Amino acid sequence: MDIWRMKNHLFQRKMQQTYDAINCFEKMFKFFKPKRIVEIGAGKGGLSIFLGIHAALMDAKAISIDREDYMNTEDIFRKLSLPTQFLISDYKLIFDECVSFAHEDSPALILCDNGSKEEELALFAPHLRPGDVMMGHDYKIEIREEVVEDIIKKHKLEYFYQNRLWGKCDSRWVCLRKKI
Ligand SMILES: C[S@@+](CC[C@H](N)C(=O)[O-])C[C@H]1O[C@@H](n2cnc3c(N)ncnc32)[C@H](O)[C@@H]1O
Repeated sequence: MDIWRMKNHLFQRKMQQTYDAINCFEKMFKFFKPKRIVEIGAGKGGLSIFLGIHAALMDAKAISIDREDYMNTEDIFRKLSLPTQFLISDYKLIFDECVSFAHEDSPALILCDNGSKEEELALFAPHLRPGDVMMGHDYKIEIREEVVEDIIKKHKLEYFYQNRLWGKCDSRWVCLRKKI
């Protein structure tokens, strides 16, 4: 195995993020401290564990959702006593549960990183409360700018740390906040 070509890892789990995304989340969590985190599309779990550790540090709770727990990430959540649950499901089947969880406390952070990210953003946008933040991965690749503009207008959202932070990140995230 060419170790240099190995996919990025975090906490011994693969993650489909560049390491500068981790730096960006660190910076954002200095100023934005969500009480509920919903990650849709946990993949191999590296980012999920990172988010779970931040949830613990912020006295928050998190859920990570995927159709499959590919690497038994739930086991790591338990080993580290993280305030995170791994829900194995198509997120659409438990959509109401996700929204109820996000509404338990505020602000909430919703991370959209599954197979149809534009659809996820559009589905969650009407449920955001003032101050909640919603992010979509692969902005300008899988998520079209015009779709984001429509969602912003329709639901009174605003870009959040977009130009100064996420716009500079190699892992392309769009970051939106419901206006306060
Ligand atoms: C790009 S990966 C997630 C990467 C992860 N967030 C990371 O940063 O390492 C997308 C994941 O979404 C999951 N997925 C796709 N469609 C889904 C759906 N409808 N409900 C739940 N998970 C889904 C796939 O199984 C896959 O693991």
